[in-house]
Amino acid sequence: MGERVSVIGSGYVGSVVAACLAHVGNTVFAVESDPRRLRELSKGRAPFHEPGLDPLLTSTLEGGSLRFTDDFALAMDNSDVVFVCVGTPAGPDGHPDLSALTEVAQLLARHLRHHHVIVTKSTVPIGTSYWLRSMIEDIAGTTREDGLFSLVSNPEFLREGNAVQDYLHPDRVVLGSDDPEALVRVADVYRPILEQSIPGDVGRRDPIPLLQARMTTAEMIKYASNAFLATKISFANQIARLCDYVGADVTEVTAGMGLDTRIGGRFLDAGLGWGGSCFGKDLEALISTAAEYGYRVPVLEGTVAVNDRQRQLVVDQLLGHLRTLRGARVGLLGLAFKPGTDDLRDSPALDVACRLLGRGAFVTAYDPMVRSVPSAPGIRIRDDPYEAAAGADALVLATEWPQFLTLDTERLRRAMRGDIFYDARNVFDPAAIRAAGFSYVGIGRPELPDAVPSEPTVSRLVRSGRATLRPSALSFTVPSPGEGNGVLEQRAALER
Ligand code: UGA
Repeated sequence: MGERVSVIGSGYVGSVVAACLAHVGNTVFAVESDPRRLRELSKGRAPFHEPGLDPLLTSTLEGGSLRFTDDFALAMDNSDVVFVCVGTPAGPDGHPDLSALTEVAQLLARHLRHHHVIVTKSTVPIGTSYWLRSMIEDIAGTTREDGLFSLVSNPEFLREGNAVQDYLHPDRVVLGSDDPEALVRVADVYRPILEQSIPGDVGRRDPIPLLQARMTTAEMIKYASNAFLATKISFANQIARLCDYVGADVTEVTAGMGLDTRIGGRFLDAGLGWGGSCFGKDLEALISTAAEYGYRVPVLEGTVAVNDRQRQLVVDQLLGHLRTLRGARVGLLGLAFKPGTDDLRDSPALDVACRLLGRGAFVTAYDPMVRSVPSAPGIRIRDDPYEAAAGADALVLATEWPQFLTLDTERLRRAMRGDIFYDARNVFDPAAIRAAGFSYVGIGRPELPDAVPSEPTVSRLVRSGRATLRPSALSFTVPSPGEGNGVLEQRAALER
């Protein structure tokens, strides 16, 4: 039962891939060269926060289906399908840095003792799979791929904070290769996931679509998906600016748009914009790829520009309200690039904090998972949200952690010197914030005393049971008949 698999690189993606593939019945050798990381992983502890991963590591290690090692040869000898999961961070020119992948190509070429299917999971510039194939051929001294190895591109669609669920219950599995046999082999590794026969799962789920394509197509699907999601967010943010001008509420506008199934409500939450290690890197890579062909991609360039402007908007609007930022005290709720993670890479919240510091403001911050920010020592980290608000002229909700929704807003207001509450993720009900004595500022939610109905349409929809509001995502699901008791559900579910 199951395939013999190895996973090269046990970082964020690799450890999730290794644990999940072992959990569904494959025998997995996962290679990690960093001794400290190897020690932790071998004890069933991921060196980063990812819900559900540690229990999966522990059970598969104990069950013997997963083993971590620094012995590349051992992993290769005991596997037929090799998942390459090394990091490809953005280099200074916007192109992904392929040095780790180059190193792995050399190791792979030297350890091909029987036929291997090599699967690239790292997000790599389009065409990199062909480059990898030539590299391995060169070093291994062969000119024909089929004698020693086959290549398959298998992009990952894992969201931080939801990676285990995304891997075990994906929307689709994409495999790209020129070799039909290799595609079958990798599909076999995924069989339990494709059929949704996951050990321990209760209830029945529909089978997962498998998309088989050329390698470049598979690589492009990954980039195009991330670029489109980022574009949806930037689109919502652009509409939010227009809402400010014309006097409309963007949360209601995007809710109305999202009910159209052709559009869909997810990733339409206007706010501080997108961040993290993926969207920005992948957009830059796609823009650079286009430039290599002398082709401009104004939609993607606009997506990046709007996102950058969104961060500056918060700073500019605070300046407008406070008159001067020099010496102003700003409290920040949230620092991570999104809720559910301690990841600060390209965090919009952190970027705003740095821009404020650069303008002479004093910034105090609270984040449930971030205890220090070595890159920005000027930010004073506090142990709870009320301390972050203490003495502040303005409070900015920068990362929409669900627990912020249950804060005692009157206590926050009492702790502060000023009265600005900048809800940069549009998760609060403006009326409730105003009732606590604040002056509410949202993104694309201007104060409209004459035009706004007594309660926002969104809330009325929800109260009528016609939709459920998830404050973290502000997305709607229309309940099936019988569901929905007409109560405003402030579900703190992390949707993303
Ligand atoms: C993203 C993709 O969602 C994954 O499918 C992909 O596999 C991954 O990148 C990757 O390439 O590795 P991730 O970066 O973990 O996953 O985060 P997302 O949940 O997609 O959120 C990205 C950013 O968009 C966050 O800063 C979030 O706050 C922001 N966002 C999201 C919004 O501003 N508005 C929204 O409506 C949704």
